[in-house]
Amino acid sequence: MKNFINLKDISHNDLRKILKDSKKRKKKRKNFNSLDLDWDKPLKGKLLIQMFEKSSLRTRLSFYLAMRQLGGGVQNLRKDELHLGQGGETIKDTAKIISIHGDIFMLRTDSEKKLLEFKNNLEIPLINGLSPESHPAQVLSDIFTIEEIKKKKISNLKICWIGDANNVLNSLIEASIKFSFKLSIASPKNYHPSKKFIQLINHNRKLISIFADPKKAIVNADVVMTDKFVSLNDKVDQKKKKKSFKGFQVNRSLTKRAKKNFIFLHCLPANRGEEVSNEIIDGSNSVVWKQAENRFHVQKSILLYCFKKLR
Ligand code: CP
Ligand code: NVA
Repeated sequence: MKNFINLKDISHNDLRKILKDSKKRKKKRKNFNSLDLDWDKPLKGKLLIQMFEKSSLRTRLSFYLAMRQLGGGVQNLRKDELHLGQGGETIKDTAKIISIHGDIFMLRTDSEKKLLEFKNNLEIPLINGLSPESHPAQVLSDIFTIEEIKKKKISNLKICWIGDANNVLNSLIEASIKFSFKLSIASPKNYHPSKKFIQLINHNRKLISIFADPKKAIVNADVVMTDKFVSLNDKVDQKKKKKSFKGFQVNRSLTKRAKKNFIFLHCLPANRGEEVSNEIIDGSNSVVWKQAENRFHVQKSILLYCFKKLR
């Protein structure tokens, strides 16, 4: 059994195996209906239990579809309907019950501590479906999308992140190190990555650079990415924070400095008109819908990785 919690803990070889399997499975599903099963039904009889402590549309739907297409079933849990949420039951006991009834657990949580406690107490694999510090399934799937569209290995491309130093960026930093791609980050000085990630950046200066000026970071980028300035449960003065991001909108004027054939990615949900202009997110460089679709293709192979079913 294997967990999928952070990209830094998974070998490059295994991450590549996941991407290879996703490519193969996606190719074989042309013209399939949403709930048609993959030919080999590798997770027949298995149950994914997924729990969301924060809102989710894409992650919820894509893990559901991923598990069903592999032949398994899915049970959703809402924190406010559990004893855990009411304060009566420990994480340890909750994890034991989840382990007795399910075969794999996917958690979207508002606490790193909780993620770790579940990891330490579950007897089944754990998938991180977004935590305050990381969003590994999103970023691995984004690498799949980038390579699929650019038809190049990501190590041959320049990736640029404009915006908040949030969970998605943290996973992207880990990915840059694992996959050896150039990552250029622009975020306002007061909103640079946390100390832990700055240390990672400092150890990998040949790959990762950080700027306070988006115009410098975006030069010659093949891929431009962003996310909301204020993340879910981000406990900040929103007005003040958004003010600091003036000049950080991905719009036509800024992207003139990227390569002409750059692609634009956003994990969504987006605040149109804030971190990205409508003309960019709806324009011809944007691949956001393909990016959202690829989530379930890649997550199928993440599930298989956790069950040690990838060859
Ligand atoms: N991108 C992403 O994880 O979206 P949701 O929050 O809707 O799951
Ligand atoms: N950074 C965002 C990602 C949402 C998918 C958040 O944590 O809210």
